[in-house]
Amino acid sequence: MRTHHCGKLNKDHLNNEVTICGWIHRRRDHGGVIFLDVRDTTGIVQVVVNPENDQAFKIADEIRSEYVIKATGLVEGRPDDSQNEQLTTGEIEIKSTSIELLNTAETPAFPLDQSSDVGEDVRLKNRTLDLRRPEMQNNLRLKSQLTKSIRDYLENNNFVDIETPILTKATPEGARDYLVPSRTSPGNFFALPQSPQLFKQMLMISGFDRYYQIARCFRDEDLRADRQPEFSQIDIEASFVSEEDVMNLAEEMIVSTFKKILNVNLGSVPKIKWHLAMEKYGCDKPDLRNPLKLVELSDIFKQEEFKVFSDPANDDNSRIAALVVPEGEKVGRGQIDRYTDFVKEFGAKGLAYIRVEGEDSSSLSSPILKYLSEECLKNILKNLDVKKGDLIFFGAGKEKIVNDYMSRLIARLGNDLALTQEGYAACWVTDFPMFEEASDGSLTSLHHPFTSPVESNVEELDKLKPLDINSKAYDMVINGTEIGGGSIRIHRKDMQEKVFDLLGLSHEEAQQKFGFFLKTLTSGCPPHGGIAFGLDRLAMLMVGAESIRDVIAFPKTQSAVCLLTEAPSSVRDESLEELHISRKED
Ligand code: AMO
Ligand code: AMP
Repeated sequence: MRTHHCGKLNKDHLNNEVTICGWIHRRRDHGGVIFLDVRDTTGIVQVVVNPENDQAFKIADEIRSEYVIKATGLVEGRPDDSQNEQLTTGEIEIKSTSIELLNTAETPAFPLDQSSDVGEDVRLKNRTLDLRRPEMQNNLRLKSQLTKSIRDYLENNNFVDIETPILTKATPEGARDYLVPSRTSPGNFFALPQSPQLFKQMLMISGFDRYYQIARCFRDEDLRADRQPEFSQIDIEASFVSEEDVMNLAEEMIVSTFKKILNVNLGSVPKIKWHLAMEKYGCDKPDLRNPLKLVELSDIFKQEEFKVFSDPANDDNSRIAALVVPEGEKVGRGQIDRYTDFVKEFGAKGLAYIRVEGEDSSSLSSPILKYLSEECLKNILKNLDVKKGDLIFFGAGKEKIVNDYMSRLIARLGNDLALTQEGYAACWVTDFPMFEEASDGSLTSLHHPFTSPVESNVEELDKLKPLDINSKAYDMVINGTEIGGGSIRIHRKDMQEKVFDLLGLSHEEAQQKFGFFLKTLTSGCPPHGGIAFGLDRLAMLMVGAESIRDVIAFPKTQSAVCLLTEAPSSVRDESLEELHISRKED
């Protein structure tokens, strides 16, 4: 239908007759002459319609925003005073000879050139319109390049792309399952996969050696800015590999992709042990662009009278974390109150602080000084690297709670005080514990139940307390977002059964849920391991989007509904009957 794309026209095409197709981005009537900004996926070009051209002018007169047209005309240079530097086509325009109206459009729900003011709900409801915006076009195009780069890398490294089922049995990754009732097996349900974990492991048992898949995963969990109920993973598994092998390969894949697509050099990705990450950053997803770090100070408060500090200092499950804010003198009293309210939202009882106004302990100032001994103040200075003008915050209390709010405070201060650098900083977090304790005292996996402990046999494992067992798991983090996680897997049945047992799964439950898998482990399972990256999260980071929804064409809202299609929606009673489901009367 067309000879050229709108955004590709320039002075090289002067005096050529061209035909373009696209949408009316803007129409301006300059008393007699009508200017049409016509947009296609490559950009915008100006079409000029003169009244002398009766056919074209008649159509142009009736055209409105988002109408679809085909225009033919001669490319001409614009007069100097009407050139537009904002447009790649700004030096030329098309003097139309004919215009064909391909389709009309209702008045758009929002103007496409001012979308930043439009609420997300309106954008999601009118997603086809929203996706026409250059920002969304660029985001989805970059995601496509990202997928290609990853596929190329993996194919070049002998990975085989294999599909795994969507209608399947539950694969636990810590979320609720989406269930699908079976018509043919009354009362039974499929689960949509939270990940292809068990299938990729079984492909290793089947001798494929290297597997990958861009896999759709489904998780019914609380949604956040970087979570969707359905999302895509770059899912990878390989046989006869160590942790180093998987991390090296994954790192090369990610580093080369950032270089290829963004021309960003991530450099060699540093490794941080989990315990150290928790101590220094209060979380296992540190943003290394932010220089703020926690310093553990429990030891120096053990003998103090001030109970706010001495109680946690003498409790094994608590910590006292100090955070030095360089040039914290800029942070006023009101701002400290706001930070205190902020950490209280996450369970803090308060946020003690000390200002450093000189070189020695006599130059400290704080409402809590009166509660602390001279020796303690000297120790604070000895243990922290502070300068005149710095501000020290203290988080004291249960380790989990302090870590949570102090890591959030680090992120907030990093932004507020512009301490967090621009750009990208990646790291690996390694040496995760196998388990953590849930509030009811039961154990849950920090990754998933198929992750191998460091110990290679059950006898050695039995010698350890469950919370002291470390795993062969690793996560990759970029700018404080977990973009990938994986591990070396358990490949022996007795070890897998032991881990199920530690997780509180009875023999019968283990058989019922994972009997098929345990059986395959006895058929000659090679040692193996892998990793999965969140494709959407990677795309989000690469385009600099605030929300994962900006890199997914048709996403769900925070409450897991699709505003465009209005899914999920009700079904007829007959459909439920076919599925052997009856409605519960409220
Ligand atoms: P994990 O659960 O860590 O590991 O998931 C891997 C990566 O997937 C991304 N991700 C998500 N992205 C968007 N929305 C979500 N709801 C969501 N949940 C996870 C994250 C995460 O790092 N089977 C294991 C991998 C393995 O062990 O090989 C797994 O699924 O970026
Ligand atoms: P209080 O004795 O509760 O008035 O607290 C004295 C100071 O210690 C105040 O500045 C509080 O904000 C701070 N504070 C109280 N509890 C904690 C805590 N758990 N961690 C850090 N600071 C605290």
